[in-house]
Amino acid sequence: MRMVQVGVLGMGKWWVQVGLSSPDVEVAGYVDINPGHLKVIQEEFGIAPSRCYVDFDRALKELKPDAVLIVTPPEFHEPLAVKAMEAGCHVLTEKPLADTWEACLRTVEAVRRTGRIMMVAQNYRYRPPVQTLRNALASGQFGAPGQVLVHFTRGPRFGGFREEMPYPLIIDMAIHHYDLMRYILDADPVRLTAFSWNPPWSWYRGDASSVSRIEMIPRSKPASGQVHPIHVTYHASWCTRGGATSWNGHWMIYCEHGYLEMVDDRVYVQRSDDSPKEPLPVEPMPLTDQAYLLRAFAEAVRDGRPPETRAEDNLRSIEMVFRTVESCETGRTVRLTGGA
Ligand SMILES: NC(=O)c1ccc[n+]([C@@H]2O[C@H](COP(=O)([O-])OP(=O)(O)OC[C@H]3O[C@@H](n4cnc5c(N)ncnc54)[C@H](O)[C@@H]3O)[C@@H](O)[C@H]2O)c1
Repeated sequence: MRMVQVGVLGMGKWWVQVGLSSPDVEVAGYVDINPGHLKVIQEEFGIAPSRCYVDFDRALKELKPDAVLIVTPPEFHEPLAVKAMEAGCHVLTEKPLADTWEACLRTVEAVRRTGRIMMVAQNYRYRPPVQTLRNALASGQFGAPGQVLVHFTRGPRFGGFREEMPYPLIIDMAIHHYDLMRYILDADPVRLTAFSWNPPWSWYRGDASSVSRIEMIPRSKPASGQVHPIHVTYHASWCTRGGATSWNGHWMIYCEHGYLEMVDDRVYVQRSDDSPKEPLPVEPMPLTDQAYLLRAFAEAVRDGRPPETRAEDNLRSIEMVFRTVESCETGRTVRLTGGA
């Protein structure tokens, strides 16, 4: 599969390395509006200047790729993805799918219109502790989950667009945890209430802390036949000093017959208050994160089979982000539909 990568610094640089070491794709060219950034990858990775473009249209025309990988800031995801699909390319985009709910809907409409595969880089799914937690819950031995707390606190200093944008935590970060809620709990959100604020010491322009309460409905019926909602609380900040969780967050899942926990990327289960917490073995994976995604994308394109994190499905995850903002701004509980 011949691929063109758009956006090469920041996360793009990581993708350059992933692309170069992948046996599944040939990266035919690189596009970045900043020629200085292209120069950096030429010098660091020995990429030929003839494979570097500042003009996306020209790269599409000259290289005729099968696929486009988008690693630009979110506001450019929609225009680049739609243009790529209209030129006949499949698309793998960094999260978020797009920067507004309307742009997400337009992007998915373009997926349906062009019949191309579009996949979103929800890489947090493909990490060993996350897989361990998900598999333990899916085994059914703890029964149905009823109440969940996801706690995420860190204080990264990014500089750049995240420190200027509104709701940096909710828009740029929470998408990972919201998508994980759907993935780990095998459930979809139906109602959400959220509140956000900016700590007085914040180095962000937009609110960097928030709490959301989300009601989710399991996708499959439990053995009892009775489907009960799962009540999830998401407590998060990108502006803490001390008390950092792992990037995956600290997960506490309270089920009918026990408790599961992921903390500091280790996974534990407990069957009652009187029994000990047992650590579960976290098995390594041959490929994780972006490397896993690139393999999954290449396989999906090769087999013509929609990948797990396809744009159409991702609407349900990204909707949680935009409804969180809506709830923060209106003070109301909002309903989620997945764009239906
Ligand atoms: N999955 C993850 O864990 C993860 C982690 C970090 C960033 N990201 C995502 O990756 C994307 C990029 O974030 P970043 O931190 O690398 O941003 P960044 O601003 O550091 O880098 C973006 C790059 O894209 C280039 N660019 C900007 N607009 C462009 C355009 N219209 N056409 C071509 N090139 C353009 C810039 O010159 C720059 O080289 C974002 O969507 C972000 O959310 C994902």
